[in-house]
Amino acid sequence: MNKGATIYYILNVYARIKITKLKWAYSAQIKLNLSEVNMNINENYKNLNESYLFSTIAKKVSDFSSKNPNMEIIKLGIGDVTLPLCPAVIEELHNAVNEMSCKETFKGYGPEQGHDFLKISIQNYYKNFCITLKLNEIFISDGAKSDLGNILDLFSKDNICLIPDPVYPVYVDTNLMAGRKIIYIDANEENNFLPLPDESIKCDIIYICSPNNPTGAVYNREQLKKWVDYAISNNAIILFDSAYESFISGDEFPRSIYEIEGAKACAIEFCSLSKTAGFTGTRCGYTIVPDNLNYNNMNLNKMWLRRQTTKFNGVPYIIQKAAAAVFTNEGQKQIQENLNYYKRNAKIISDTLDKLDIKYTGGKNSPYIWLKCPSNMNSWDFFDLLLTKIGIVGTPGSGFGKNGENWFRLTSFNTIENTTKAMERFYNFFK
Ligand SMILES: Cc1ncc(COP(=O)(O)O)c(C=O)c1O
Repeated sequence: MNKGATIYYILNVYARIKITKLKWAYSAQIKLNLSEVNMNINENYKNLNESYLFSTIAKKVSDFSSKNPNMEIIKLGIGDVTLPLCPAVIEELHNAVNEMSCKETFKGYGPEQGHDFLKISIQNYYKNFCITLKLNEIFISDGAKSDLGNILDLFSKDNICLIPDPVYPVYVDTNLMAGRKIIYIDANEENNFLPLPDESIKCDIIYICSPNNPTGAVYNREQLKKWVDYAISNNAIILFDSAYESFISGDEFPRSIYEIEGAKACAIEFCSLSKTAGFTGTRCGYTIVPDNLNYNNMNLNKMWLRRQTTKFNGVPYIIQKAAAAVFTNEGQKQIQENLNYYKRNAKIISDTLDKLDIKYTGGKNSPYIWLKCPSNMNSWDFFDLLLTKIGIVGTPGSGFGKNGENWFRLTSFNTIENTTKAMERFYNFFK
């Protein structure tokens, strides 16, 4: 090897050693950095209250039943429908399944915001209440709960929201998850559980549920107009939950916020076939976002369309066909029979409370009856009393918020025979 080649060889070995050392140092550095980096998760989840309401009820009932096997327990706390889907819906489900089995009629992805045939049915349904909707204002969903949560994608987390207490817990938890500030407005005996706007409170997002869960209270047109005017003057938006609108009879109460003048400029409406047509397990609802709903020069209808087309791939065709059957003449007649059944149960409960002179809201245009615990008992004490003395299970009002204390929710979803028997026991015990 000549001198030049030797120098070249030594330099080459030296360079390789250096590179190897650098590689070791670099990989050690990466390991070090990885161990120093913290995964940032959404710590707002720490602010959620664990809901023990229904698990505590279930445990109390099973403990009592195992000690008292001869006591027949009647559940008037059920928040789910119990009657099956109506024949028109079942027939359309079968037809749609058959369509999916055939090459010529098979359907793949549909429009994310829903098929026109269902949107047209909903558009016609709203005409019954003298409301004109454009098809692009109707968005088909898998139920009101998802959309009530998802709609918050459109709003900054710096917004303040106004939520009534007591309340359907989804409004609270979805905002807590986003870290949004919540102001509670009292729904109580003084305002018949129908709070009205307070001009001294400034907020951006207002939740209204009418007919209400858990109180069964329903806003009239004058009251809702106050909310619409307040929202407009505060540049706020109303998120109106009309999941129980089909329980309203007659013309006294509005079925939709859009019956109120000005609402299309300040409200989004969420509705569902869950309680209307027994779709709690079938899953279909709809959300109305008016196409002239603008804040900060941004159009919420366009934003919601963008959000849905990005994060949602639509409700199954089969389910949308079944949902359209609800809006046919036959479907409407059949679901009305089921609604009447629940409403008869609600009347059995409210008639008993009337006879006993126990104060309550709901029960007339709602499946829920919200009663004041006799002798101003605490909600859980009243729960224990009903369970242990007369074998009736309901839901303690305090589980829905601080203003629910001393109140109690009964529901009309059990059978007519059980509801009658339960209210006979109730009357005989409290008379
Ligand atoms: C007030 C209210 N809104 C929405 C929902 C959820 O409806 P869905 O089954 O369409 O998700 C419920 C269900 O109990 C409810 O009580």
